[in-house]
Amino acid sequence: MTLPRFPDGFLWGVSSSAHQVEGGADRRGKSTWDTFAATPGKVLNADTGQIATDHYHRYPEDVALMAELGVGAYRFSISWPRVLPTGSGEVNQEGLDFYDRLVDELCAKGIAPSVTLYHWDTPQPVEDAGGWLNRDTAFRFADYAETVVARLGDRVRMWMPLNEPMVVTLFGYAVGAHAPGRELMFEALPVAHHQLLAHGLATRVLRAGGAGNIGIANHHVPVWPASGSPADRGAADLYDGLVNDMFAAPVLTGRYPTDELAAAMPGPVAEDLEIISTPLDWYGVNYYLPSRVAAPGAATTPAVIDGAAMPDGLPFDFPVIDGYPVTDFGWPVVPDGLCQTLTMLADRYGDRLPPVYITENGCAYHDEVHDERRIEFLDGHLRALHRSIADGIDVRGYFVWSIVDNFEWAAGYSQRFGLVHVDFDTLARTKKDSFHWYRDLIKAQS
Ligand code: NOJ
Repeated sequence: MTLPRFPDGFLWGVSSSAHQVEGGADRRGKSTWDTFAATPGKVLNADTGQIATDHYHRYPEDVALMAELGVGAYRFSISWPRVLPTGSGEVNQEGLDFYDRLVDELCAKGIAPSVTLYHWDTPQPVEDAGGWLNRDTAFRFADYAETVVARLGDRVRMWMPLNEPMVVTLFGYAVGAHAPGRELMFEALPVAHHQLLAHGLATRVLRAGGAGNIGIANHHVPVWPASGSPADRGAADLYDGLVNDMFAAPVLTGRYPTDELAAAMPGPVAEDLEIISTPLDWYGVNYYLPSRVAAPGAATTPAVIDGAAMPDGLPFDFPVIDGYPVTDFGWPVVPDGLCQTLTMLADRYGDRLPPVYITENGCAYHDEVHDERRIEFLDGHLRALHRSIADGIDVRGYFVWSIVDNFEWAAGYSQRFGLVHVDFDTLARTKKDSFHWYRDLIKAQS
């Protein structure tokens, strides 16, 4: 059945990130993900992002695929260590030249370059100086943003300083499932604050540099209490506050969701919140799956979120969500969770929520070319999205994660999210059935 019609001007896009697709690691500085992947046992099969999909060299082929797809925008990230190998100081002109060529290639094909400045690949020297635990990192990040906007600001059409600061805080610094692999539990909270400060500072720098159309790509999860018991509801509320509100409320309202959280943050928090809440033009939502949350001790299986195992001792547990199909990554397929996410944001933030873009949505299946299940996944989520729009939520665009199979962080190359299959031995690209499906959809909607 054909999809209902989306609003005029709705933006159809695809997304990726530097470390997951670029490769070309010998032409940039080292990042935390290089270090993490080189540490035995951290990434499945000891996979690394050294070559990835070789987008660094093959971007013309990838942009040609996007043009064939008919997308209006490509969301990609810039590698901070490619632009500034030590995180600050001397600029690697060759690195900026790469993005300059990529942006030109996109513009030539009528595809809007949509840039994320930070998608998790911190320059290693910045990490060595404390990374996101160090307030200074926010200011170094703003300097990096200034360098990028000076070079690309005339052609980039959408900007988002950060991708999923929640995941960096939780996986990177609290439980150690991602780079830099710290296990600080609640002592990781400053990481959230410093990233948010970096977001606010960079937003101001981008605007001062003449850029417009600035947002953020936040990961959101509908949180389902495992039962109506006060203990489960309390655990779910705590988790919801940490993964959703802690990253949305400061940006949209200039406040942390609770006084306890504000008190746990370092620095002149009130002044920082002024910067963090610099008005945005749009708000980006990355949606994949809901979380079911219980009081500790309830789950009979090890706690896993997004494929990352959670350590013992957390104040919540994650009982399996059953009754839904699962992707090959084991994630439940819950299209209505997208509506729940958008309703949650609209209810909580009302007028303060600017127009929304779905900056990521997608699924991992092993199917090489005939990926009917991906088509069903995307179809289901787009129908859900359409329901939210019909309910009055102002959603302006949707980006599939991802254009090509790529390096799925701690899962290495074992999980394939692409519309295009990549053979990681030969790096050959093959369009999957979902590629043709998305192309036809975009054509029908245009
Ligand atoms: C969100 C992240 O931004 C992206 O890097 C990742 O590949 C997808 N989730 C899938 O896990």
